[in-house]
Amino acid sequence: MLEKNLSKTMSSFISVHDISVVYSNGTVALKPVELEIYENDVTVLLGPSGAGKSTLLRVLNGLVKPTEGYVSSKNIGALTSSKQLRTHRKNTGMVFQQHQLIGRLTTLQNVLLSRIGSYSSLRTLFPLGKNERQWALNCLERVGLIEKALERCDALSGGQQQRVGVARAIAQRPTMILADEPVASLDPASSERVLGMLRDICKQDGIPAVISLHQLEYARQFADRIIGLSQGEIVFDGPPLDLNDKALEEIYSAKKL
Ligand SMILES: Nc1ncnc2c1ncn2[C@@H]1O[C@H](COP(=O)(O)OP(=O)(O)O)[C@@H](O)[C@H]1O
Ligand SMILES: [Mg+2]
Repeated sequence: MLEKNLSKTMSSFISVHDISVVYSNGTVALKPVELEIYENDVTVLLGPSGAGKSTLLRVLNGLVKPTEGYVSSKNIGALTSSKQLRTHRKNTGMVFQQHQLIGRLTTLQNVLLSRIGSYSSLRTLFPLGKNERQWALNCLERVGLIEKALERCDALSGGQQQRVGVARAIAQRPTMILADEPVASLDPASSERVLGMLRDICKQDGIPAVISLHQLEYARQFADRIIGLSQGEIVFDGPPLDLNDKALEEIYSAKKL
């Protein structure tokens, strides 16, 4: 049974219309899913490994084409043409588990790299301007790393590197942030810091965020709304307070048909 979703009074930023994903090897990763992601919500996807969290995130940013159904966004409409998908991806900030930074570059250079994607290929032949540099520094300041701006990324701790990952995502001036297990390889103190910063920034800027996590306690602590996935199905959708033992059982005990 789906829980009542308290967010429903909020306006929708992105809609998933009856989407299913079957990979080419026949794996059914998402069974038909109908979903609204609301503006200003930090939505956490919770579920065991293989539940379909990464697939759903990839559908949300257009990296995986659904087998059936479609995604639409408030700003762009139905994401069907490659031009619409490109625009959508440019507007979507991604934070990854392995932050995918370039270790030999400085933190500032890594953050600036996110800005290059916003320009035409011709423009990228020229150095980015002073305004871009200032903006990137501002993003580093928001994650508490301004003093590390000129240090090589590989000299930073794992938690600091992930904060650079967050700075890089927000430097893109995204209209939505998607994060796939952003703290899976961090210690508890760093995990809380990264998730806290990500949440605060999204709240301050009014950016909807969808974050997949496998740690229940962080989902409870940082989500406005939790979507529980099990075997490609949404089995819970509601605020953290509603996530009771019965709901957890639905999420974590795979039903055998
Ligand atoms: N590229 C792929 N090709 C085939 N099967 C995949 C692919 N990616 C994921 N899967 C399968 O789809 C299911 C959902 O995976 P995934 O979305 O990665 O779940 P999660 O992120 O919750 O661990 C799993 O059974 C996984 O093995
Ligand atoms: Mg995953």
